[in-house]
Amino acid sequence: MRKKVSIVGSGNVGATAAHWIASKELADVVLIDIVEGVPQGKGLDLLEAMPIEKRDSHITGTNDYADTANSDIVVITAGIPRKPGMSRDDLLNTNHKIMSDVVSKVVKHSPNCIIIVVSNPLDAMAQAAYKLSGFPRERVIGMAGVLDSARFRTFIAEELNVSVENVNAFVLGGHGDTMVPLPRYSTVAGIPITELIEKSRLEAIVQRTRDGGAEIVKYLKTGSAYYAPSSAATEMVEAILKDKKKILPCAVYLEGEYGIKGLFVGVPVKLGAKGVEQIIEIKLTPEEKAGLDKSAAAVKELVGVIGV
Ligand code: NAI
Ligand code: 2OP
Repeated sequence: MRKKVSIVGSGNVGATAAHWIASKELADVVLIDIVEGVPQGKGLDLLEAMPIEKRDSHITGTNDYADTANSDIVVITAGIPRKPGMSRDDLLNTNHKIMSDVVSKVVKHSPNCIIIVVSNPLDAMAQAAYKLSGFPRERVIGMAGVLDSARFRTFIAEELNVSVENVNAFVLGGHGDTMVPLPRYSTVAGIPITELIEKSRLEAIVQRTRDGGAEIVKYLKTGSAYYAPSSAATEMVEAILKDKKKILPCAVYLEGEYGIKGLFVGVPVKLGAKGVEQIIEIKLTPEEKAGLDKSAAAVKELVGVIGV
């Protein structure tokens, strides 16, 4: 039987995720939104591209959660994006209200699905979705680390003029200004980048990664990034649907791992058919651990504000 992925929020990230998922023929896709007509129009438009793309993914758009019933995965992108001058945290209260509305309906119609949260501020919204859903922690996952690592990989590949395929990189922590890019665990064809890029250049690349979201917002002015974010969510969808057991940095609910308890923070996990199949604990230097703790503290402050 075909797999089914529903995407809540048919805006920039949601519709582009539908595009990537359908063009890779990973699943049938249901786009849903509160705005009438938009998911239907975008869904039909994308469906009509399938003969050209030679893909048999079926895409529909709706405002009715009944149409999302029995989804294997639900990707939540509903929410407002930031505008210039706003931080991701400025979205907290509005997006929490939206999350409260969305998650109960998702759970009612797809009680066995895996939820991938994209809405910002990411870690706090993932924690809200986890608490609202009542799902086990394996089935509620936040997307941020794949995107932040992809930005880091892009900048490393550009710096060294090598294929992006040669570059592996890890960014841990919350999806905010305190995220923790890990140069020591980032490699080009297996060689640590600390041996290839001199310290001050590397620091500049790390900072550009931390500011990666804001760099795009500054250009776009009316919204935030969506090609790379939706591609990142799609990599997670693919890892789950194909049971790939792929190690990816994702926001997950930690219960003591990395010395952090009761909080969503980005760490390396194994993604497969069951969702988060393993949380991988890598050794951190005292400096890296302090960075992760600082990032976790920032997430804790936000979840405290919304009480989740
Ligand atoms: P957008 O404004 O293009 O789309 C958001 C959509 O959500 C709109 O179509 C809106 O009508 C819909 N929506 C609002 N309330 C809803 C509800 N109650 N039920 C269903 N749909 C609802 O925004 P965009 O660019 O797609 O971003 C979406 C969210 O994802 C934002 O919060 C943004 O900050 C976040 N984001 C997170 C990233 C990450 O790395 N985790 C990366 C990029 C974006
Ligand atoms: C980003 O990093 C907006 O969180 C989003 O682009």
